[in-house]
Amino acid sequence: MSETVLLVGGGGREHAIARALADSDADLYACASNRNPGIAAVAEGVETLDTTNPAAVTTYAREVDATLAVVGPEAPLAAGVADALDDAGVYAFGPREAEARIETDKAFQRRFMREHDIPGCPDFETFEDMDAACEYIDEYDGDLAVKPAGLTGGKGVRVIGDQCTADEAKEYLRASDYDRVVLEERLVGEEFTVQAFVANGQLRVTPAVQDHKRAYEGDEGPNTGGMGSYSDASLALPFMDEDDYDDAVDVLRATVEALDGYKGVLYGQFMLTDEGPKVVEFNARFGDPEAMNTLPILNTDFLDVLTAARDDVPLPQLSFRPKATVCKYAVPEGYPTDPEAGAKVTIDAENAGDAILYYASVDQREDGIYTTTSRSYAVVGVADSIAEAEEIAESALERAGTEGLRVRHDIGTAELVQQRIDHVDELRGD
Ligand code: AMP
Ligand code: GLY
Repeated sequence: MSETVLLVGGGGREHAIARALADSDADLYACASNRNPGIAAVAEGVETLDTTNPAAVTTYAREVDATLAVVGPEAPLAAGVADALDDAGVYAFGPREAEARIETDKAFQRRFMREHDIPGCPDFETFEDMDAACEYIDEYDGDLAVKPAGLTGGKGVRVIGDQCTADEAKEYLRASDYDRVVLEERLVGEEFTVQAFVANGQLRVTPAVQDHKRAYEGDEGPNTGGMGSYSDASLALPFMDEDDYDDAVDVLRATVEALDGYKGVLYGQFMLTDEGPKVVEFNARFGDPEAMNTLPILNTDFLDVLTAARDDVPLPQLSFRPKATVCKYAVPEGYPTDPEAGAKVTIDAENAGDAILYYASVDQREDGIYTTTSRSYAVVGVADSIAEAEEIAESALERAGTEGLRVRHDIGTAELVQQRIDHVDELRGD
């Protein structure tokens, strides 16, 4: 039977999901707050709606007779969109609101780890009273990461000793209107992501990816949703060994076992420290940009994963092309603090050469493509080595055009990758 899949979300990650399903035996429909031209090109229909409104999403799902749904971003999951779809008889690949708390409530996430003895949990405390939190900063022996418990698009965290001083962190807390924060041990090392498809207590893992959160080259500037990312031709990254990757997978496995009825993607953000991988956070969905590194090299039909999840049969074993990938985002000027939304941009998507071009949070209107407050488009180079993939991505950016947009050109370069390797060697005393 042919499937009708509803895709929720309109960013780069969702364009990657749409492309992964484009060759499957599925009719694709999509809904988002923006009209993503890449998704529109492969979908039978696209609808502009508020994806955090469960009733609006289920109404559209019924209208198109969806047999499955994939929820891309976290905001709809937090709003209970997966619950509403499931209740309407449309299986949603994405956790229900209660299970999505593993991402949407960082206090819950840490307590959950502690309660279930999940390995890799940093030392932490949670606070509702900001004065008490400030006192804790004064008393704590060492640097802390200050994290609002709720969703901030990756932009709410302040790391003492890295992004700010203890005094600045206290000022930040006092000036904020956060009602709950987590203060946790600052983890020092290199970050990496491992994502897994999860359903019916099973998990299938994907290659490690390294994202680049900071806005500017050399890891300077504020945190963003992610400026770009790379993966290697093997499961691990150049600065880690296979054991580190396996340790991360063990954390994901323990988490899936402890979470009852989780379905969708479980995303682990790890810090490779001198004591091995520690958990920075979990997300309840694909990473953006990480989905764009993972899905283009997935040989297994993504639709088979979705239908197996829904039908409660064993998930297929995944097969990946042994290729390295480099993804670079072009973002509006001023992103993330003061992004220039509503600027008309020219993106020559047909001219991306050997790279894949994914449209992200742009809006296609009658007279052209406009920026929103979020990232605009990404290019992904796929090749035998990270260095080759980087060159392909760079050349694609040049061809597609970046006027009025900003890029971190250092992502995936030999120099930056070597810095990561040296950093871990130094931590491990090699
Ligand atoms: P999160 O929203 O939890 O992903 O945090 C955003 C970013 O803040 C992470 O990608 C890390 O770079 C940084 N971060 C979060 N928690 C910690 C921690 N405990 N130690 C060091 N850096 C952290
Ligand atoms: N790339 C980080 C995230 O998707 O949260």
